[in-house]
Parts: sequence; structure tokens; C-alpha cells
Amino acid sequence: MRLDYLTIFPDYLAPLRLSLPGKAVESGLLDLHVHDLRQWTRDRHHTTDDTPYGGGAGMVMKPEPFGEAFDELLGPVPEEVAQQPSRRATVVFTTPSGEPMTQRLAEELATRERIVFACGRYEGIDQRVIDHAREIAEVREISLGDYVLNGGEVAALAITEAVVRLLPGFMGNAASIVEESHSESGLLEHPVYTKPREWRGREVPEVLLSGDHGRIAAWRHDQSVRRTAERRPDLLAPSVLDDGGEIVRAVPADAAELLVLQRACWAQEALANDSLAIPALHESYDDVRTALAEWDTYVVRRAGRLVAAVRGRLDGTAWDIGRMMVAPDLQGTGLGRRLLAHIQAVAPAGASSYVLFTGVRSERNIRLYKRAGFRPRVELPAPPGAIVLTKPRRG
Ligand code: ADE
Repeated sequence: MRLDYLTIFPDYLAPLRLSLPGKAVESGLLDLHVHDLRQWTRDRHHTTDDTPYGGGAGMVMKPEPFGEAFDELLGPVPEEVAQQPSRRATVVFTTPSGEPMTQRLAEELATRERIVFACGRYEGIDQRVIDHAREIAEVREISLGDYVLNGGEVAALAITEAVVRLLPGFMGNAASIVEESHSESGLLEHPVYTKPREWRGREVPEVLLSGDHGRIAAWRHDQSVRRTAERRPDLLAPSVLDDGGEIVRAVPADAAELLVLQRACWAQEALANDSLAIPALHESYDDVRTALAEWDTYVVRRAGRLVAAVRGRLDGTAWDIGRMMVAPDLQGTGLGRRLLAHIQAVAPAGASSYVLFTGVRSERNIRLYKRAGFRPRVELPAPPGAIVLTKPRRG
């Protein structure tokens, strides 16, 4: 892969010679060229910027130096390359108004043979430079994030590092790429630990010392989901319902509505089973809040109203499903079935079976669970007046 950088601060890009990209250059994997944009200026002061047409604060980078740099570095495009868009060079303009840099984009850029980074400064680059580049190359305008840097050099460095480490033969351990945050799973990475086993009174989680690979994988998945829900809920793909509604992760602010829905649903259960000794009926607001931290809970809203919920938690290798509830006016509409499918789908890798319980006389629930492949297990211990149902996990 060949990488070129157009900048008025070439020293800013010196770190490219260090660390990972530097190693890739030494190994011949990368051909890297940093260019001082001022070499393509023609005036005595090597001017690269000017005042904006239409007025306004700041300066705009002039088109001519970029144009000449592109002529020298990219053009003229050979006919056979012009005919094959996939073989064209890619010009990356680093700008806060670009598309966000993501792992997906890094993976895409890692497939390119040639990338030219045009690092903007000041208020940006004359738009005609970008329009011109589109005629001779693939153009990507990329932002490092929703904040403004003084120039695009830091962004070019960050993008380079994200891309170069994906090149085949670059990383020593390819598996570490697969498992890290923003990889295929779409989840943030789980916490990691190394020796010593105890440090300043803090122990490494016991499960990691167990040697039980199934449990370890399940724990890691669970930690990833929790982290992602806490820090980046936007990454957890919501499950879309037939009516366009979504099953989404519950947040602490849902606790009050959950409690109200729970009381309504379990009042029905109390009547059906002729018993008030049902824990879900007696839980307080604080109990519901605490449970939200301990279970993976999902909710459905209709027109802003919380109308359904379900939760799951790993117990050994069983994915324990509970608190399936659908608002009385929406029962019988298929929402329960969808919630049940969803909570099974999000079970972590370590789950080899599903388990839930319901009232022995909750016929409607039992019918729903049986249709979903659950089987009553009278031989298994259950809370008073309840029956346990289980289902093996396949695949
Ligand atoms: N130049 C200035 N701010 C930037 C940002 N957020 N991303 C990419 N380039 C930039």
C-alpha cells in the first residue's frame, strides 16, 4: 500500500516513522511519503491560504497547490485505471464535516492500493479541490469525531494507524484484531487482566482463572454487552418489530414504568393462580432498579409508552429468562412471541439452554412457551405454584 500526505506541517507527521506504520515501512508493506504542500506554491511567501469569498472569519486553503500536488502524484490517470474505479487512488480529506471514522471504514480503506491524505487547516480547503479530486480518484471526507482540531494531520495519523494495522501480515496475532472493540460483534471489548493475580487488594475475576473456556466466553460476552449498553447504547442494534417499533435495552430511567407494567401484569397472574405469593407482585421501585443492573433487560415502547419487557441472565450455562410482560391491551398481538425470540437471540455464547418459569395455571403463558419449543419440567425445583420450562439451545 502506498500512502501520501499533503500538509503544510510535515513535522506533524513524523510519528509515522515510529511505531506501527514505521515497522510496516521497514518490512516493505508500506510505501509512505510526506509532502510539504508549500513545494507546490509559486509565490515568494509560499502562500497556501487566502480570505474566503463571501466574507467571514478565518482563511481558506487555496486550490492551486493541491491541484499541482494531485497532478504530480496522481495524474494523468492511465486509461485502464480510469475504466476500473476499484483501481483508482483514494483521496482522503480530513475534515470535521466528513463521515465519521469507524472500524468499518478502516477495513474498507485497508483494501486500497493507494491513499493520498489531504490535510486541511484553517476554515478548510477550497471546495473545487474536492470536486476536482472526485474526477481523478475516489474521494472520502472523513472526520475523527464531533470536535474540531486545529488541522487534519492528527486525523490522518489516527486513520493511518487504524488502517495499517489491518493490512495482512502486519499484526503478529490476527485473533487479537477479531476480538477487539468495534470488530465484527459490534460490541465494545470486555475488560482484560494480566498478572499478578492480586494487585493492591484487587483480585482478577475468579472465572478467568477457572480454565473453563465456556464460562470464560460467556463472562466476556456478558461484560461486552454490559459495557456497550452503558457506554455506547447506540451500538446495540435494536430488534425491529413488524410495526416498525423496536426492542431496545432498558435504561435505569425505565424503572418506574417497568414497575407499573409489572404490577399490572402480575395482578393478572395472581388472579389466574389464586395466589398473592408472587415475588414480581411485591417488588419495590428500588428492587426493579437493582434488577436492571443485574439482568439484561429489554423493553418495547409504543408512542412513547412502555408496553412490554423481558429480561435474561446467565446462570451457569443456562440463560435464565424472566419478567416477560406485555401491557394488557396488547396481549395476543404477537408481542410476547417476539420478545421471547429476542431474549433467546441475545443469549451469550456460553448459554447452552434456556430456562424460565411461570404459574402452573398461567395457561396462556405455558401455551406461548410450548409453541416456542419450551418443555415443562415438573421434575425441576420451581417456586411455589410455578412450573419450570426449559429448551436446549441449538447451533
Ligand atoms: N480537522 C479538524 N477537525 C477535524 C476532525 N474532527 N476530524 C478530521 N479532521 C479535522
